[in-house]
Amino acid sequence: MRQTLFLLFALVFSLSTAAQPGGRQNWNGGWTFSKDGASRVLDLPHDWGVEQPFVQENPGETGKLAWWGQASYSKNLPIENLDKDWRLEVDGAFSNAKVYVNGAEAGGWPYGYASWAVELTPWLKKGDNLIEIKLDNKPESSRWYPGGGIYRNVWLTCSEKTAVAHWGTYVTTRADGSRATVTLQTRIRTDRPQQITLTTDILHKGEVVASDTRTVQIYDGKPVEQTFTIEQPCRWSPETPALYVARTTIGPESYETPFGIREAEWRADGFFLNGARTFLKGVCLHHDAGALGAVWNDDAWIRRLTMLKRMGCNAIRTSHNPPAPELLDLCDRLGFLVLDELTDTWTWPKKDNGYATLFEEWAEKDLVALIHRDRNHPSVIAWSIGNECGEQGDSTRWWIPQMLTDICHREDPTRPTTAGNDNPGAAFTGYAATQDVYGFNYKPHLYAQFRDTHPGVPLYGSETASCISTRGYYRFPVEQEKNKGWDLNPPFQVSSYDLYAPAWASKPDYEWQYEDQVPECAGEFVWTGYDYLGEPTPFNLDPSVFTNFHTEEEKEAYRRLLASWGQVISDVPLPSRSSYFGIMDLAGFPKDRFWLYQARWRPNLPMAHILPHWTWPGREGQVTPVHVYTSGDEAELFVNGVSQGRKAREGYRIVWDEVVYRPGTVEVIAYKDGQEWARDRMLTAGRPARLDAAVDYAGEDLVYVTVDVLDRKGTLVPDAADAVTFSVKGAACLLATDAGDPTSHVPFWSPTLPAFHGKASAILRRTGPGPVTLTVTSKGLKGETLVL
Ligand code: GAL
Repeated sequence: MRQTLFLLFALVFSLSTAAQPGGRQNWNGGWTFSKDGASRVLDLPHDWGVEQPFVQENPGETGKLAWWGQASYSKNLPIENLDKDWRLEVDGAFSNAKVYVNGAEAGGWPYGYASWAVELTPWLKKGDNLIEIKLDNKPESSRWYPGGGIYRNVWLTCSEKTAVAHWGTYVTTRADGSRATVTLQTRIRTDRPQQITLTTDILHKGEVVASDTRTVQIYDGKPVEQTFTIEQPCRWSPETPALYVARTTIGPESYETPFGIREAEWRADGFFLNGARTFLKGVCLHHDAGALGAVWNDDAWIRRLTMLKRMGCNAIRTSHNPPAPELLDLCDRLGFLVLDELTDTWTWPKKDNGYATLFEEWAEKDLVALIHRDRNHPSVIAWSIGNECGEQGDSTRWWIPQMLTDICHREDPTRPTTAGNDNPGAAFTGYAATQDVYGFNYKPHLYAQFRDTHPGVPLYGSETASCISTRGYYRFPVEQEKNKGWDLNPPFQVSSYDLYAPAWASKPDYEWQYEDQVPECAGEFVWTGYDYLGEPTPFNLDPSVFTNFHTEEEKEAYRRLLASWGQVISDVPLPSRSSYFGIMDLAGFPKDRFWLYQARWRPNLPMAHILPHWTWPGREGQVTPVHVYTSGDEAELFVNGVSQGRKAREGYRIVWDEVVYRPGTVEVIAYKDGQEWARDRMLTAGRPARLDAAVDYAGEDLVYVTVDVLDRKGTLVPDAADAVTFSVKGAACLLATDAGDPTSHVPFWSPTLPAFHGKASAILRRTGPGPVTLTVTSKGLKGETLVL
């Protein structure tokens, strides 16, 4: 059995959801959820979409799950005295939320990715109070699976009448040599003009390192400013994510603001952190967590971020919307740089009921909410004001990105703005001046031209590659053209040679070639770190796929391309329900690309990775190309001990195109500077004989278990699809299962699922203290029992 790899991270970084001082308590428990005439009591966060079965007729674009419709959540709030202020804080509810207190509308927020608050006090009475949150999800409002429900945390804040306002603090830092200056602005809400005394302590690792107390007259809403000097500050960086806390006390209440001390600087020659050039090795991420749907869970994301870190990733773009606030807490603690993004659309619609319908009334409110919530996170290095918005090409609409940039500068003068831009022409018009840092989606061939025409403007790849692949699936012959890695027939999978991409996209190697030619490029954000629910390109044939193209000519060209494959955009859905873009699959298993990126992003880590697997009954004697991803510079390949040649790395992989498949062993020895550096080996597997179960992550709340289907000698059987059943006894329950197959319609709650390319996974939720017994079985195979 393998080791518990993530246990350490879980212990060190487990987040506390404890109430903030000042009476902020988690309010997730015991809500009555009502939808379609049925009611039940549940705990938040909750996503009703992921509880539904996959339905073939539902659009693959949004995951074939029914996340739409109307629903409500209600809960009693007993109040003993009315001397305090009560506030409901919702980190995310999808969508069009309206809050009612004792039947009266008290507030709400339409954008499903926003965090927001409602002041409850004016509507409360002594005794019981009914709090109801009604949601309404319109179809045709998303290009991916958005989820449905109150899918993030909810908090109840009870405070004195005079207290730090909601998101009321703003920390800025300046580090100079061995000293840092920290400035804290605090907005205080009060019901009357008065004099108050306010103390702020700055803490580092629990010790007070600076402090300031002052008595101020508050009456005009102006923030109170305090300045601190910190000698020998610990600077925050992805490698050393050191955090401080500003603890502000007014009367009996304290309010805590975590922050970091770091100098982030976007320059025309790259991104610099604490004075050192830091290449952004980033991935784009949607908000879902695979089999958990849109439900936020700390453990699920600690596991995900830990894998990304192991790959060498140091940056995340929260495409295309505000993330859960806890994602930023994790990025602060684990060390990731973040592009915090507002939206996928301005006024130019991508979907009939999408954000364009809200933009005019809500964009400023959403952006201000995002900035006020997130501007104290050291991880956040830029505000991304939009993604591939159609207005890029329309000079009469450039006031929109300019307005958004101005709002960002007003609310946070310390960070630049950026956007994901796909319109190639727009980069060379006045549009480029509407943001501080220029992000290219899939246009690395324009980096050099942009650097030359805009010598003062920082540039980077806001979205790169969009390479597609299915873990463990390979097609022969291996075609080089990017659209030849799949066909529109069963099994609806994409070959994992990492050469394939849709029309607007490319293999990773293509992007890197330009990054290496233009050293000023600040970095890249790969589309995507993980597979996500919805958008199963190239099997996403919903008409919205055209939003990936900017001009009519491009759209027409894509129509012609599809027609040449015998396919027209139609309403007839294919089975796929989740994406193929991920470096990791939906279950979190790495695809081959994980090692391609690791080789580039962690050049000092000795590693080598062979693909494909070496179990090809029926291919004996046939040419079966072998690709090796390595941080070495040379490698020699052997099949059953016979050398296939020693080759230097050209480009980003080492390729043996003429290898003939013979069952047995394929092995690579990689070299660096002439010395042996790393090895990898693949064995031909026999028939499935047994299951091997191992805990791959154990957090406070969730435990992830991986099952491998092995042959008698312990080799993974790469095409095994045996049905695996999980059963759990003791202090945990089975929350979800998944094997990473984008076409599977087995619901995530099923205890039995087919292994996919030899692997399956289960997510267990702890229900209390005590041991947990997990048994995995499969007909005809030896099972395994784990005691956790
Ligand atoms: C981009 C878009 C992303 C995603 C991606 C797929 O153009 O910004 O949201 O659709 O294409 O390749």
